[in-house]
Amino acid sequence: MTTAQPVTPLNFPSERDGCPFAPPSAYERAREEEPVSQVTLFDGTPCWMITRHADVKAVLRDQRFSADIRHPGFPFINASRRALVAGQQTFIRLDDPEHARLRRMLTADFMIKKTEALRPRIQGIVDEFLDRMIENGSPADLVTAFALPIPSLVICLLLGVDYADHTFFQERSRILLNNEAAVEDVGRARDELVDYLAELADRKRRDPDDSIISRLVARGELTEREVASTGMLLLVAGHETTANMTALSTLALLREPEQLTKLRAQPALLKGAVEELLRFLSIIQTGLPRVATEDVTLGGQTIKAGDGVLCMLATANRDEDAFADADRLDVARESRRHVAFGFGVHQCLGQPLARVELQIALETLFRRLPTLRLAVPFEEIRYRDDMVVYGVHELPVAW
Ligand code: HEM
Repeated sequence: MTTAQPVTPLNFPSERDGCPFAPPSAYERAREEEPVSQVTLFDGTPCWMITRHADVKAVLRDQRFSADIRHPGFPFINASRRALVAGQQTFIRLDDPEHARLRRMLTADFMIKKTEALRPRIQGIVDEFLDRMIENGSPADLVTAFALPIPSLVICLLLGVDYADHTFFQERSRILLNNEAAVEDVGRARDELVDYLAELADRKRRDPDDSIISRLVARGELTEREVASTGMLLLVAGHETTANMTALSTLALLREPEQLTKLRAQPALLKGAVEELLRFLSIIQTGLPRVATEDVTLGGQTIKAGDGVLCMLATANRDEDAFADADRLDVARESRRHVAFGFGVHQCLGQPLARVELQIALETLFRRLPTLRLAVPFEEIRYRDDMVVYGVHELPVAW
């Protein structure tokens, strides 16, 4: 690696040390002082941390950076992630043309038109979980009663997975996304999920329906393992992310009553407010990993072929060059340029669905519970510092 100025590399990841909604101050300092800077990973490997909005987009759209974890030099933030190199890969960690071949089979299912058509069904699901939470009485944990089951049930319906198995796949998803889980636990969780989906694919082969898994099987173009790993990617990515955004967004709005009042008074702000919350909270907290396949000059540094990079979405989304007064939550802001869903060929496939789910969940929650408030002091909330997807472990609320 060639560094323009010698710096003491940070050990990655750093802990959050200020506002729980903001990235660690060490990352923000890096963005101001040395936006393409060296960090040291858990096993001593050096890696580049990319912190500015323009640079993050430049890397994510540049074909000279690979997302394939089997590529030498790919950066792993812990041993269990490194251990996942062995075995069937999901397309989020493959390059084109392999990635494009698999992703193309799903694009129609996640088109805006298709997800917009799901609105009445999703509204029904949201109302049902909220009815149940209200029936059970105040206080409640918003994560288990509302934020998690909604996207979990929706992705099950789309995939053709039985929601009755939710404890099984939610527990394993949580292990897969836990940065501190033991290597063998992560491997086992992945294998069990793939086996579960392979069995489901087999059932759909015999008894087809209109679900995504059934249609993937019916195309006859994928191996059984490819169907199963694609199903696993959708199942894991499809519920943990939106669930944490729902709970964390609720907390952020309760913490900023002026913003909540503004949103309640002007429902037309809802879609923009969801984009602003995605920007402000940037829940994918450990950085999008890539490896350079050629030498690339960026931010005054030479990133050599074989060097790993981590694209930090949270610092990019709070870059003053992209968003004025970026540390402030402003539901009326124009924030569509955020990179909370990534950028380039791997940009989130499920973003139209996530948007619809978040808009309906937040609008319904704050409309139907006008007195919603935290049931514990703000300082007692426990955050998911140990997970790839940031959020809260539970959110006790009263109304
Ligand atoms: C608020 C919710 C969500 C956030 C913040 C989010 C974030 C992201 C990000 C940052 C990426 C890019 C990863 C990379 O480039 O390495 C991604 C990819 C992906 N997301 Fe999401 N996501 C969300 C919801 C969903 C949902 C609901 C689904 C549903 C199926 C989904 C499925 C996927 C898939 C399949 C990919 C891989 C795309 C590819 O490699 O081509 N996500 N997501």
